[in-house]
Amino acid sequence: MEMIVAKNYEELSQISAQMIAEFIQKKQDAVLGLATGSTPVGMYKKLIGYHNKEGLDFSKIITFNLDEYVGISPNHPQSYHKFMKETFFSHINISTSNIHIPRGDQPQIEKQCESYEQAIKDAGGIDIQVLGIGSNGHIGFNEPGSSPEEKTRVVQLTESTIQANARFFGDEALVPRLAISMGIKTILESSKKIILLASGEEKANAVQGMIEGEISTQLPASLLQLHKNVIVIADQPAAKNL
Ligand code: GLP
Repeated sequence: MEMIVAKNYEELSQISAQMIAEFIQKKQDAVLGLATGSTPVGMYKKLIGYHNKEGLDFSKIITFNLDEYVGISPNHPQSYHKFMKETFFSHINISTSNIHIPRGDQPQIEKQCESYEQAIKDAGGIDIQVLGIGSNGHIGFNEPGSSPEEKTRVVQLTESTIQANARFFGDEALVPRLAISMGIKTILESSKKIILLASGEEKANAVQGMIEGEISTQLPASLLQLHKNVIVIADQPAAKNL
């Protein structure tokens, strides 16, 4: 794993956005794997800046998001569909037919998970996968205990993730208990390059375990040690245990 320690969140956002912008300039039909959560928001803002000021073109870019809650519609204020639209997609010239986000509100979820895997394959895999990290070491919604053999599927959220996300829903009871997530196998096998972003002291233990710890399903992010092209960009508080 390559490690970049950024001075602060601003620098983390700048470095990651620049990497993606430079890649898109070379490959206009790049396939990006995208993450939600608060960490990549700064990177999305900078990419919008590249689009507005320098004309960075997203018209041929294809995206696959990591995950979505089960049981809420794309219009729900806390759905990842809504988050991506408001934070990023509605500000750039991406074609809506090129955006892929799992749907958590449809019947036949298993079938949908299979089609999601197939769509990633049909797109030729993911050129750059952006990841955040949960304070329990989860990636996407692959919680501790997730096997590296799992593909896109329905997952049960852990109590710590439900608590961490309660702030968005106003009340812990309203946080969905299930989600659809790309699996660790999907992430490891379909991504040509992975950029993992970590910001803040509450991520310091997970970051240390991911980089210095043994590979363990108890800390899903440590499974990224199995991938050959991972860049971790952490700000100083998130890197403080290294
Ligand atoms: C959610 C998402 C993850 C994200 C994590 C961390 O659980 N499913 O993809 O990495 O939150 O979020 P934050 O960046 O807000 O700490």
